[in-house]
Amino acid sequence: MTAPLLQVKNLTIDYIGDSTDFRAVDDVSFDVARGEVFGLAGESGCGKSTIAFAISRLHKPPALIRSGRILLEGRDVLDLNPAQLRDFRWREVAMVFQSAMNSLNPVLRVQEQFYDVLRTHQKMNRAQARERTAEMLRLVDIPPDRMKDYPHQFSGGMRQRIVIAICLALNPKIVVMDEPTTALDVVVQREILQRINELRRTFGFSVLFITHDLGLMVQFCDRIGIMLAGKLVEQNTAENIYGAPQHDYTRKLWASFPSLHGEPVMEKVSI
Ligand SMILES: Nc1ncnc2c1ncn2[C@@H]1O[C@H](COP(=O)(O)OP(=O)(O)OP(=O)(O)O)[C@@H](O)[C@H]1O
Ligand SMILES: [Mg+2]
Repeated sequence: MTAPLLQVKNLTIDYIGDSTDFRAVDDVSFDVARGEVFGLAGESGCGKSTIAFAISRLHKPPALIRSGRILLEGRDVLDLNPAQLRDFRWREVAMVFQSAMNSLNPVLRVQEQFYDVLRTHQKMNRAQARERTAEMLRLVDIPPDRMKDYPHQFSGGMRQRIVIAICLALNPKIVVMDEPTTALDVVVQREILQRINELRRTFGFSVLFITHDLGLMVQFCDRIGIMLAGKLVEQNTAENIYGAPQHDYTRKLWASFPSLHGEPVMEKVSI
């Protein structure tokens, strides 16, 4: 058995308030294996994004990590100093979130946004960066000659694919995706997840995946953790979480999505 890529151990996170603190994540533990897609599901406000931000070391006040550890290849990401953090972001962990497509800088050509990441983190020269940019755009089905275009010249789905390509450009070990396709229509969502899955098979990165779409969740994930009010109440393979839920809340979650119920269990291979 090889050690898991990511280990979240007894993670507890509060939001510090003027008078009281709010416990958003309560003693949560889970592992993500190399190349695995692990999903976090649960109702709005249960703490999914708070965990995603902490793993990416993007949490900031009022969020306070009270206790626990987040180990990537055995190294605690909570102990990284600012210099180590610069290396950690993009190269070890990349994050794609719901509005990521709007995080592209509107006044910079797409190629400049790739170059920024590639040249800062990998000290590539311009020619190498251009080559890598073309390669990454091809991987997400964007013609490389469009690298000279500005973000507004692309559709929302294309912009999100560009963000994903930038995220993958430095070969991260894990990609944290917090509702990466929620803002897009269903067909585009599926296309993007399909492409991510193919890339995952090629490059071997892991994914922490968060979405409100439980159908997508079951299709895309190897294992799923169910959260309720800051606690991880159940984790299992996607098949078992869907087909043989153990916790009452998991059963309720499926029941609240009638489109999933009564339909044949979805083929995982379809994504
Ligand atoms: N900056 C903040 N200050 C105070 N409380 C916060 C802050 N951000 C989040 N919270 C609270 O922490 C809890 C967890 O929030 P979080 O965003 O992690 O939930 P989530 O599971 O991602 O929800 P959603 O599915 O709606 O995205 C919520 O109750 C939320 O109100
Ligand atoms: Mg969230």
